[in-house]
Amino acid sequence: MSGVRRQREGLSMTFEAALRVAGVSDRVAEAFARVPRHPFIPDRIWHRGRPVDRASAPDRWRRLVAADDAVVTQVDDGVDGGWGIPSSSSSAPSIMAAMLDALDVRPDQWVLEIGTGTGWNAALLCELVGDADRVTTIEVDPVLAERARGALEAAGYRTRVVTGDGAEGFPALAPYDRVIATCTVRDVPKDWLAQTRDGGLIVAPWSPQSGGPAGVLARLTVRGGLAEGRFVQGLSFMWLRQQRDRARPHDLDAAPEQTRPVEVGRELLLDGTVMLPLSLMVPHWRFGMRGTSDGPVVWVSATDSPSWARVHADRVEQGGPRRLWDELETAHAWWDQRGRPGVAEFGLTVGPRGHTVWLGEPSGPSWRHG
Ligand SMILES: C[S@@+](CC[C@H](N)C(=O)[O-])C[C@H]1O[C@@H](n2cnc3c(N)ncnc32)[C@H](O)[C@@H]1O
Repeated sequence: MSGVRRQREGLSMTFEAALRVAGVSDRVAEAFARVPRHPFIPDRIWHRGRPVDRASAPDRWRRLVAADDAVVTQVDDGVDGGWGIPSSSSSAPSIMAAMLDALDVRPDQWVLEIGTGTGWNAALLCELVGDADRVTTIEVDPVLAERARGALEAAGYRTRVVTGDGAEGFPALAPYDRVIATCTVRDVPKDWLAQTRDGGLIVAPWSPQSGGPAGVLARLTVRGGLAEGRFVQGLSFMWLRQQRDRARPHDLDAAPEQTRPVEVGRELLLDGTVMLPLSLMVPHWRFGMRGTSDGPVVWVSATDSPSWARVHADRVEQGGPRRLWDELETAHAWWDQRGRPGVAEFGLTVGPRGHTVWLGEPSGPSWRHG
């Protein structure tokens, strides 16, 4: 299929092509070449909120599974009658490859994965380690864990699939050389630090925004009770179940305590290259969008106090003890003056004092995220 036709049909390139373009390391690319994706994908998947069944739409199913996109494999935690919110997926292969590259797995290392999902990433880890017995993967959903167990066994990987809460790790086989999470966390669990060998790595999607739509890939070296390192890139992953936050933002309809013209508009939050650094520099808030009779409005809601802001095309309304939009505009101006550093210039330290984001080095400008 030509690139133009592919674009017209709204398909992304195959993941094999995407991996070549993305400059993935040879070891990781070889693992992908040895472990095909489709044996791990269930017959029913979801695309744009609708089910796609392999039996009735085999070509569509195959195209979706071959593309460099996430394939949704469960919605609403498997409970019927929900909103169709994705709760498990096979992540986009180029993102998985970037995470495996960051994890830098060597032969014979002990590895723990949190978020088994389909089991495909666990199979890739087995290939990289060379010994399935040294790979343990944890899935919170018993139905998914059982399915992944079957798929891994059928593909010849006798790895350990544990059904349980991955936030607790799996102490029986600790310490691990490598810990990888394939779901987003805001609080990196203490158990992951305690179960990682000194000098070992934790690679996990991290987001300071409770339940927020996007985060960053953290690559943390564990040493002396701290986990520390630079972020690798921005990315978007579903949340660790226990850290999901779908609470309603406060005061969506409250009378404003302050109304003023917008200095820098809501595009601050609509462009990920701006929004992600802001989420690192301004702690304890989240945002969303909502349609109103006045057109689309961006809302911002604090997670540490009843503070809020509503950003219209021409004005911002604010209330509560924090002036959230003022904080975001100030942080944006500071970031702009600093030459607009990208997420890979920021890093994270996790330890007894909680989570601290810094710019450049751990001793650089820093922000406490609790
Ligand atoms: C993006 S999917 C994982 C993709 C998977 N690695 C693969 O190769 O298919 C995220 C998974 O994390 C699981 N999960 C969420 N919270 C969890 C927890 N507390 N412990 C273990 N797994 C969890 C979800 O059920 C979901 O299957």
